[in-house]
Amino acid sequence: MTTRIAVAGVHGHGATHVRNASLYGDLVAIADPRPPDDIDVPVYPSLDELLAATEVDVVIISTPIQTHVPLAELAMRSGADVLLEKPPTASLAEFEYLSKVIEETGRVCQVGFQAQASAATLQLAQLMADGGLGEIRGISATGKWLRKAGYFDRAAWAGRRTLNGVSVVDGAVTNPLAHSTAAALLLDGSTGVDDILSVETDLYRANDIESDDTSTVRITTTRGTSILIAVTLCAAEHVDPAVIVHGSRGRAVLHYTTDTLELPDGVQTLGRADLLQNLIEHRADPAVPLYCSFAATGGFTRVVEAIRLADEPAVIPDANVVWEGEGAERHPIVRDVEQWIDRASDELALFKELGVPWAV
Ligand SMILES: NC(=O)c1ccc[n+]([C@@H]2O[C@H](COP(=O)([O-])OP(=O)(O)OC[C@H]3O[C@@H](n4cnc5c(N)ncnc54)[C@H](O)[C@@H]3O)[C@@H](O)[C@H]2O)c1
Repeated sequence: MTTRIAVAGVHGHGATHVRNASLYGDLVAIADPRPPDDIDVPVYPSLDELLAATEVDVVIISTPIQTHVPLAELAMRSGADVLLEKPPTASLAEFEYLSKVIEETGRVCQVGFQAQASAATLQLAQLMADGGLGEIRGISATGKWLRKAGYFDRAAWAGRRTLNGVSVVDGAVTNPLAHSTAAALLLDGSTGVDDILSVETDLYRANDIESDDTSTVRITTTRGTSILIAVTLCAAEHVDPAVIVHGSRGRAVLHYTTDTLELPDGVQTLGRADLLQNLIEHRADPAVPLYCSFAATGGFTRVVEAIRLADEPAVIPDANVVWEGEGAERHPIVRDVEQWIDRASDELALFKELGVPWAV
């Protein structure tokens, strides 16, 4: 029997899910308060109304972060399994709440960290577990992205720490570059909620937003690994993110957006499984493991929680920022941010420990 799929949230990233749903099942309906005009399935203004009118096996949720928990709960209580976009929840309390809903309903929830389904990520994790890179000194992730005013202006929740008193936590580490942290935790074998010993945050912003756009975060896992995340949305140009493993027998670099793995003995580009297809296979045969179960985002959610509870990001002084473009194209470039990110990554150090001019 084909899987009956509904998508909640179809503009933005949801458009990809709408296309993908028909590859692996039957797209039976969509829910979005802003109805699209080019879709030939029933459209409902809310998931509630969709579920009241339609039999659904899987709901894909690609909506603003602060709506994830109520919509996932609604879907699971109606008897559907869920593919929930990342970051799955905006707080540890929400994570624990949704974990209980999953337990009570017996439904399945896969989270949209697609880099966890990359053969490049999984092969590197296996190599590390087999000791192929020797002793691991640490793992770092670098993200040098450029986001313009149009990105933050597209939705009320963009760049917010809270909206109407509800946690959103839409910052560089927790949302646009969230895959970096999730992949680093997977490589360390530390995806669970109890696998994190501490999280040190060092958050800044150049944009006129609430959340961080230029940050370092150091995670220490219970295995004793230091994971250093160094990211910005204010780079001079967009560079593919990298997750770097520093081993006593050499360095490995994972480019999760292209499934490319640089190892001491060469570079390979590998394939990637599809999270929806995997969820459908898991429904048919629970012996097929999920690539990214909800439980396997507990470690990541500890990082979200630390950023949620951290002080507001410090404003990077004007002297360190150059503005380019006009209107929706306007964007800040933080001077020398690329070099500081590389140093933070090499030394597993926070910006404030490196004497970065805006961080002293
Ligand atoms: N996996 C990835 O690589 C990736 C990439 C981009 C975005 N995302 C995630 O996808 C989600 C959506 O991000 P976006 O940038 O597309 O957001 P967006 O705000 O641009 O679009 C959200 C969509 O959801 C709709 N919506 C809002 N509230 C709704 C509700 N209650 N019910 C149904 N629809 C609702 C909006 O009308 C809009 O169509 C976020 O969790 C984001 O982090 C994941």
